[in-house]
Amino acid sequence: MSIDDIRGAILSDELAAVGSIGTPKTYQGVVVRADEQEMFAGLASKDKDPRKSLHVQDVETPEIGPGEAIVAVMASAINYNTVWTSIFEPVSTFGFLKKYGRYSELTKRHDRPYHVVGSDLSGVVLAVGAGVTKWRPGDEVVAHCLSVELEDAAGHDDSMMDPQQRIWGFETNFGGLAELALVKANQLMPKAQHLTWEEAASPGLVNSTAYRQLVSHHGAGMKQGDVVLIWGASGGLGGYATQYTLNGGAIPVCVVSSPEKAEICRRMGAELVIDRAAEGYEFWKDPQTQDPKEWQRFGAKIRELTGGEDPDIVYEHPGRETFGASVYVTKRGGTVVTCASTSGFMHEYDNRYLWMTLKRIVGSHFANYRESWEANRLISKGYIHPTLSKTYAMSEVGQAAYDVHKNLHQGKVGVLCLAPEEGLGVRDHDLRAKHLTEINRFRGI
Ligand SMILES: NC(=O)c1ccc[n+]([C@@H]2O[C@H](COP(=O)([O-])OP(=O)(O)OC[C@H]3O[C@@H](n4cnc5c(N)ncnc54)[C@H](OP(=O)(O)O)[C@@H]3O)[C@@H](O)[C@H]2O)c1
Repeated sequence: MSIDDIRGAILSDELAAVGSIGTPKTYQGVVVRADEQEMFAGLASKDKDPRKSLHVQDVETPEIGPGEAIVAVMASAINYNTVWTSIFEPVSTFGFLKKYGRYSELTKRHDRPYHVVGSDLSGVVLAVGAGVTKWRPGDEVVAHCLSVELEDAAGHDDSMMDPQQRIWGFETNFGGLAELALVKANQLMPKAQHLTWEEAASPGLVNSTAYRQLVSHHGAGMKQGDVVLIWGASGGLGGYATQYTLNGGAIPVCVVSSPEKAEICRRMGAELVIDRAAEGYEFWKDPQTQDPKEWQRFGAKIRELTGGEDPDIVYEHPGRETFGASVYVTKRGGTVVTCASTSGFMHEYDNRYLWMTLKRIVGSHFANYRESWEANRLISKGYIHPTLSKTYAMSEVGQAAYDVHKNLHQGKVGVLCLAPEEGLGVRDHDLRAKHLTEINRFRGI
């Protein structure tokens, strides 16, 4: 009954045996520690180093509850939320765990002096709790990160509206950057058969978020022909937003910060790309004052590329630094759809450009159960592809999160958990061969 027995059974394809091995009492997970919450006090965000705060340590396996599953995690990925957790910004995630711990007898398990982080996984179901019938030990799965209780009618139409909505591995404990993970069985979805463990683990959070933000009627409701301005178009979210735009017959205008990133956008099929570093946009004259002339210069560049058209949709997440420009350049009647504020959450924009030209700002957050399922279905069918650029071992997770914090990465950064090496887990070799170029387009840049 050891982790090695579980890994051995998976690697030798004895999946039917996985359920009979039993659940180990402890496992290795990537954690932040409550007694280190103040370790970066007084430092600027950029100087807070995830390599110092993320640790790989033994943790106790939580007892499995009704409707839950424990998954043997083969691979996971870095999301920006793990960067936020590791630098204890904008708040320490131990507050989330304490609050969740007060919700019920069962959720008390989440309130611990350590937080096992991570909101993506691919792996094999090890055990299921009472009442779970759809999934069995031995099933190859990925997990989306929407944790909801669904006891309240508010979430019954759109599960993101549940008052107890949380992001698993960020606002709950026992996340995916670990050898084992605890999820609600409703988070489980089939693993794409043509992908390796690390490729399959990498789309989850950002792919589902981009789907809701751009495609779903809950987000911007993009349609054929729309011009879509995409910030960070080769990053975690942007790599999917760009694919959805092209898939849906719309026209992406990709914003990136280097020729290498511009090249990735072109590899995805985008033709209109702005290198914001080369153009040298300075939307802020000083930390308090924006420069509308720079918004105009940016808007003129977009029109130059589109033949005079403004964006129907602006795909926002950088936040404070870009939001004024985003509202300005959006087409009359168009939509700014935002899911984040990486550079600061106190946004400032000139409201005259919003109301006089009838624009909308739409808030979007992760994705509901159905949207997550649809986004995963598109991955499984080979319509949307992973954007994995690099994979680290779990012991190097600090460096992986550091790369994302410092914007040194492309697309997604993967982490091997129980998988001993890259390249394992593929079942459908024909579908893989068909899409190999697309699967690898973020590699080696
Ligand atoms: N609400 C949700 O459900 C949700 C889901 C996923 C992510 N998020 C949030 O969304 C944000 C982005 O996540 P991600 O996974 O896409 O991160 P990412 O992989 O770091 O990509 C973001 C990209 O945005 C661009 N960018 C960063 N700062 C910028 C700035 N000041 N001005 C212009 N562009 C900037 C960068 O691209 P270039 O340098 O190439 O321009 C960067 O690569 C994070 O804050 C994350 O927490 C929210």
